Amino acid sequence: MKLWIVLILIIGGVQCDGFSDQVFKTLNIGEGNACYRTFNKTHEFGCQATKDNENGLIVRIDKHEDFKNLDSCWRSFYPSYSRKFWALVPVDLIRRDSISKLKSSECLAGIVLYNSNQTMHPDEKTTAASHDGDCPNAASDYYFQNNTEAYCERKFNSRGSITPDGLMRIDWRVQMIFINNSTDLDVIKRCHSMFNTPREDGSTGYPYCGMSFRMTNMAAGNSEICYRRGKNDAKLFQMNIDSGDAPQLCGAMHSDNIFAFPTPIPTTPFNDTHHSSKYMMVTSRMDSFGMIPEVSVGEVSVLTSIISVLAAARSMGDNIEKWKKASNVSNRNVFFSFFNGESLDYIGSGTAAYQMGKSMFPQSLREDRAHIHPVLLEELEYVLEVQQVGVAEGRKYYVHIDGDRYDQDRTPTDKIMDKIERGLRSHGFDLEKPSGSQRKVPPSSWHSFAKADSKVQAVLIAPFKEEYDYKRINSILDKNQWTSDEKEKAVQEIEAVATSILAASAEYVGLETDDVVAKVDKKLVSTLFECLITSNFWFDCDFMQKLDGGRYHKLFDSYGFNEKSTYISMETHTAFPTVLHWLTIFALGSDKETLNVKSEKSCSHLGQFQAMYTYTWQPSPYTGNFSCLKSAIVKKVMVSPAVDPSTPEEEMNTRYSTWMESVYIIENVNLYLMEDSSFEYTMLIISVISALLSMYAVSRCSEATFIVDEGEPAAEGGEPL
Ligand SMILES: *[C@@H]1O[C@H](CO)[C@@H](O)[C@H](O)[C@H]1NC(C)=O
Ligand SMILES: *[C@@H]1O[C@H](CO)[C@@H](O)[C@H](O)[C@H]1NC(C)=O
Ligand SMILES: *[C@@H]1O[C@H](CO)[C@@H](O)[C@H](O)[C@H]1NC(C)=O
Ligand SMILES: *[C@@H]1O[C@H](CO)[C@@H](O)[C@H](O)[C@H]1NC(C)=O
Ligand SMILES: *[C@@H]1O[C@H](CO)[C@@H](O)[C@H](O)[C@H]1NC(C)=O
Ligand SMILES: *[C@@H]1O[C@H](CO)[C@@H](O)[C@H](O)[C@H]1NC(C)=O
Ligand SMILES: *[C@@H]1O[C@H](CO)[C@@H](O)[C@H](O)[C@H]1NC(C)=O
Ligand SMILES: *[C@@H]1O[C@H](CO)[C@@H](O)[C@H](O)[C@H]1NC(C)=O
Repeated sequence: MKLWIVLILIIGGVQCDGFSDQVFKTLNIGEGNACYRTFNKTHEFGCQATKDNENGLIVRIDKHEDFKNLDSCWRSFYPSYSRKFWALVPVDLIRRDSISKLKSSECLAGIVLYNSNQTMHPDEKTTAASHDGDCPNAASDYYFQNNTEAYCERKFNSRGSITPDGLMRIDWRVQMIFINNSTDLDVIKRCHSMFNTPREDGSTGYPYCGMSFRMTNMAAGNSEICYRRGKNDAKLFQMNIDSGDAPQLCGAMHSDNIFAFPTPIPTTPFNDTHHSSKYMMVTSRMDSFGMIPEVSVGEVSVLTSIISVLAAARSMGDNIEKWKKASNVSNRNVFFSFFNGESLDYIGSGTAAYQMGKSMFPQSLREDRAHIHPVLLEELEYVLEVQQVGVAEGRKYYVHIDGDRYDQDRTPTDKIMDKIERGLRSHGFDLEKPSGSQRKVPPSSWHSFAKADSKVQAVLIAPFKEEYDYKRINSILDKNQWTSDEKEKAVQEIEAVATSILAASAEYVGLETDDVVAKVDKKLVSTLFECLITSNFWFDCDFMQKLDGGRYHKLFDSYGFNEKSTYISMETHTAFPTVLHWLTIFALGSDKETLNVKSEKSCSHLGQFQAMYTYTWQPSPYTGNFSCLKSAIVKKVMVSPAVDPSTPEEEMNTRYSTWMESVYIIENVNLYLMEDSSFEYTMLIISVISALLSMYAVSRCSEATFIVDEGEPAAEGGEPL
């Protein structure tokens, strides 16, 4: 035993005593790679480290049959071991039939998730793996809140949901991490195979390879407690939200939303009376989630639909004079909204609806300059949203509307639906219009506006009828391997939907839909598909590299900042809003009036004192050449009024999202050898050491030198608020 310790100390180059289990490898886990704690008004969800789920013996679940070992707590493999296990599980095994086993296990400390090499196709029908519940956002649904429907009366996702309530709303007793670094993953697998795999005769014995991990949340309870706590500390809290820094213990989920106005909204000096205009808002959400939220790319949940809206915006930008003229005559405008936080009770659209009601959208009025006329709720006539583009069964799409509102004046909506149909047909797709029973709007951003205004109409274009067909919506598995056929079909769908967005918009503003107005750049759609969906990171393709032009810097050790993620979080460390902002500027910005501007500095000067326009020094994704692009695009952080200290009148009002997130401290993963004091070591030590020599060893000295907050009373259950 003594020899053993001495050898470890020499390898680790550390001198200290008082430890029992030898840490020989430490793996760094970045922000966003672990499951942490979230809150709604009344409950807490997610993961938390406790004494019980910190340490465990490493086991593997490689295929579905291995879950029976979880049921029996691997007793037949490790008869003398009775404590907990960390299970290595590939993400494709996270499905309806396995999740209950993971959830109810008595002997699991945690799960280490990793991407499997299994291919997963968008049209695969067998996998019910959506982390959304049967009825996404049922509690914030317009029909439920308006008492016209019982909670979760219509189930849109019961074929796809892993559990009826969804994984975002589970209070796990286990911890979870996601490891994508193949070096790190190999170390864990090797440690498992060296020590924990049964020998040829089926026996196992000490020492075992153990793993410890600890993610400590600073807050506990629910968002109401968190909010009150934050209010006491109001100044600090507010400052933190503004600056994007993490508040002390917990904070509201918030992130950038993007609003783009292709046609000029009238601007006037501050005191002028308001000239009313009418609007159609074309929208698509920019967030998805999964069990470990950052690790969900949201290909079908988010990206395909966004590409279709971007393609439509680009076409509009190319013919902007026609659109301006039509809007000027009809006094109707189309604008684009990319809402963030929609999968968590509509943070973005709920806040926008609130701000429209207060004449604060898209910006608050400022006395020192001309201002954009606010878009008011009563001016918003249509919310046109697209969802889940790219996974249509056959060649058929559906349009969803609210029957009651539609019945009040059918003609304009009929005309819009006809144009959508023609747009889809021009690409060989069919449209089924709403009838009889399905005249209620599926989960979508419209609900936020419907709650605030009794007239605004919904037009939702999607490939599903009564239930979602795609069963991996909002999940860690919404990341597909697309064959070239699947890709081609998806690109066709995106193009067809983009065309129908243009046709519907043109109809709305009174523009004749011709081959030019409704023409979508197919090449652009394919390029964006490659760049945003096929590529490993946003800036991996030539188009995006040129668009970046050296402007993007990986600053944070966070998953969302360094890898593809479409999660909204309390931190704003995700790259996607920036990516989308730049793409929107590309789509709608113009350098016609600024061709003589040759530097970033003079470009930014142009924007001073401007109400409507921003000027952005940005390269063309085709040539890489920078120019000064004029656009009317607002990138804006939205905090739900229910949890925003600056809107105390809406405090915890469940018409709005109440989602918050705990601040957390994430520690490294340590691999160590579990010893049994009764064991005879001498021979084993030699083999162990020789194995260890191939890795670099780190010795864990005393708790104090090693754990940031071990002394905090908060550590165990979160700060008792
Ligand atoms: C919070 O989530 C729980 C569990 O899903 C649910 O029962 C409760 O109604 C939610 N509270 C609010 C205010 O949405
Ligand atoms: C995935 O990896 C396993 C071993 O880890 C291997 O047996 C299997 O053939 C691989 N499958 C594919 C599709 O590459
Ligand atoms: C829904 O709520 C609005 C506003 O509170 C109200 O005017 C409307 O009549 C309600 N509709 C139904 C069907 O209850
Ligand atoms: C993460 O995993 C995916 C799939 O295994 C791989 O394509 C990607 O390169 C990995 N990312 C990093 C940073 O290792
Ligand atoms: C994986 O982690 C190791 C350190 O453990 C690091 O040196 C390496 O760069 C990482 N690889 C990737 C692809 O991030
Ligand atoms: C706007 O009106 C207020 C009083 O109603 C006045 O004090 C202010 O100077 C006016 N501002 C401008 C820019 O005219
Ligand atoms: C809009 O129409 C008005 C007349 O109604 C005209 O004075 C103005 O120049 C037009 N603006 C644009 C941008 O065409
Ligand atoms: C881009 O810049 C290069 C070098 O500065 C120049 O030769 C080229 O003509 C530019 N391309 C365009 C389209 O302006």
